[in-house]
Amino acid sequence: MLTDNHGRQIDYLRLSVTDRCNLRCFYCMPQEGLPWLHRDELMSSAEMLRICRLLTGMGITKIRVTGGEPFVRRDMVSLLGDLAALPNLQHLSLTTNGVLTAPLVPALRDLGIRQVNLSLDTLDRQRFLRITHRDEFDRVMKTFEALLAHGLEVKINAVVMDGRNTEDILPLVSLTRELPVSVRFIEEMPFNGQGSHYADLPWNYLRILDAIREAHPGLEKIPDGPASTSYNYRVPGHRGTVGVIAAYSRTFCGTCNRLRLTASGLLKTCLYDEGVLNLRDMLRAGASDEQIRIRLLEALRHRARDGWEAQRRRREPGDPHESMAQIGG
Ligand code: 5AD
Ligand code: SF4
Repeated sequence: MLTDNHGRQIDYLRLSVTDRCNLRCFYCMPQEGLPWLHRDELMSSAEMLRICRLLTGMGITKIRVTGGEPFVRRDMVSLLGDLAALPNLQHLSLTTNGVLTAPLVPALRDLGIRQVNLSLDTLDRQRFLRITHRDEFDRVMKTFEALLAHGLEVKINAVVMDGRNTEDILPLVSLTRELPVSVRFIEEMPFNGQGSHYADLPWNYLRILDAIREAHPGLEKIPDGPASTSYNYRVPGHRGTVGVIAAYSRTFCGTCNRLRLTASGLLKTCLYDEGVLNLRDMLRAGASDEQIRIRLLEALRHRARDGWEAQRRRREPGDPHESMAQIGG
């Protein structure tokens, strides 16, 4: 079992397999893209697998693959197969934008993946184009249908953006009437690759909830999982559920069970830290498994209490400049 210096059990790794993406969501990266990692800066599949094998031997039981967009990596399905075969891994899931995913859904299901997070901020094609700068709405909806048709559990992640998609909140909630999906509204975070953010977040989770409650006064609270980042609800009679994720307000750090590994091999013990250990460089310098284990345990003994402390510890004050695609969503 892995435990940090605040007594939190760590059993979850979010593995970013690439910083590249085939969309350009404005809250994540500038329209011209990011200064992408060079091939040799990126972790190889073998390196990722080695770290994942080590971590699953230490107490990590759940891995979520993220990016960037995981499926822009050509070796993605075979990497997922290797991860799925790790002996101590109980849950393998992934987060995708759905552009390339539909044809792969049967293969994902055959690998034992049961749950997928689909990023979808709007149900309107025009607004999709304005948010992502790519006309890919139809392919994303095909992925949504394929996931449901193959019986995978689907969570929709929708970032709520002032002036961009707040009119989508209620239509997205309506999806849960007939469909067994969980729609989660995420507060917009500063990780847009440009270092600019609101002085005051206009749409925090409380305001999002108010907007939902105004249309659905009977909204019921339902139980949240043990280390859930979302507060979950159901509109009475609806098959699916809705949730809010206070990703900016950081109200859930007390039960945080997760580590992150960026595509360049940086270990992050908090979304808001700047990386606490470069595992790629350790691997490439020939470190043994035991040496890596020691450094991992040391990183967990110095974990920030919450996202506010992690941000204060950064060398550069102010809003972070990196993109969610570089961190791992
Ligand atoms: N704020 C909140 N969520 C973000 N994501 C990407 N960038 C941001 C941001 N700046 C979300 C994506 C995706 C998940 C991996 O992270 O929408 O669903
Ligand atoms: Fe790509 Fe996801 Fe970033 Fe959008 S939010 S640009 S889909 S990595």
